[in-house]
Amino acid sequence: MHIYVTGDCHGDFSRFAPERFPEWDSLTKDDTVLVCGDFGGVWDGKEGDRERLDALEKLPFTLLFVDGNHENYDELATYPVTEWNGGKVRYIRPHVLHLLRGQIFNLDGRSFFTMGGARSLDVWDGILDPEDPDFAARYWELHRRGAVFRVKHLNWWEQELPSPEEYGEARRNLERAGYHVNFIVTHCGPSGFLDRVHGGHIRPDALTDFLEEVRQRTEFDYWFFGHYHENRVFDKKLLLLYRRILRLP
Ligand SMILES: [Fe+2]
Repeated sequence: MHIYVTGDCHGDFSRFAPERFPEWDSLTKDDTVLVCGDFGGVWDGKEGDRERLDALEKLPFTLLFVDGNHENYDELATYPVTEWNGGKVRYIRPHVLHLLRGQIFNLDGRSFFTMGGARSLDVWDGILDPEDPDFAARYWELHRRGAVFRVKHLNWWEQELPSPEEYGEARRNLERAGYHVNFIVTHCGPSGFLDRVHGGHIRPDALTDFLEEVRQRTEFDYWFFGHYHENRVFDKKLLLLYRRILRLP
């Protein structure tokens, strides 16, 4: 069994085409590729997503993902939660699985702590709520001036950041594992690293602070994360991934 890991897809899965993924021919459904959030395959609703998700099911490997900030959380929530290899998942297709937050999975004798979610960075000009009375006026005003904004339940969801229950479950599971796992897979990175990405302009938040706590308390071999759209290695153990596909040792 081989395990690969890659960064944000945003609904574009062209990196998994046989001509771009040299191992393609040798892979089976026992092999897995893990996406570090911003999967984007569940986005347009059941009918809108059908073709894209059916194509992912036809890939020669099993596709796993933690959630990022750009996921349709209303739609994801329509898939039931079930148990898989020691943690909670949603089956999107028989071989396309959403790995929930705060879980520890056992794959091929190795443990993976997963904690998706992130605060959106591309909302500089605001987040609009269609329920607000002045929504239409504000929307067209922002649209006209090419503003960077998002709309609740259309392309932005408050569930992008974990709930208190999800943090609680994460802490309980890490405690049970003695704060020792082989791999950590998240979408955003710990607060202590934010000054080293995007010129240090990213503010910490509750999730990056929680991940910093995890980084300081947990013994791990490698930590994989996405969100910042770069391929970089920090301190030999923290791997920020974007389009690159890495095979785990
Ligand atoms: Fe992203």
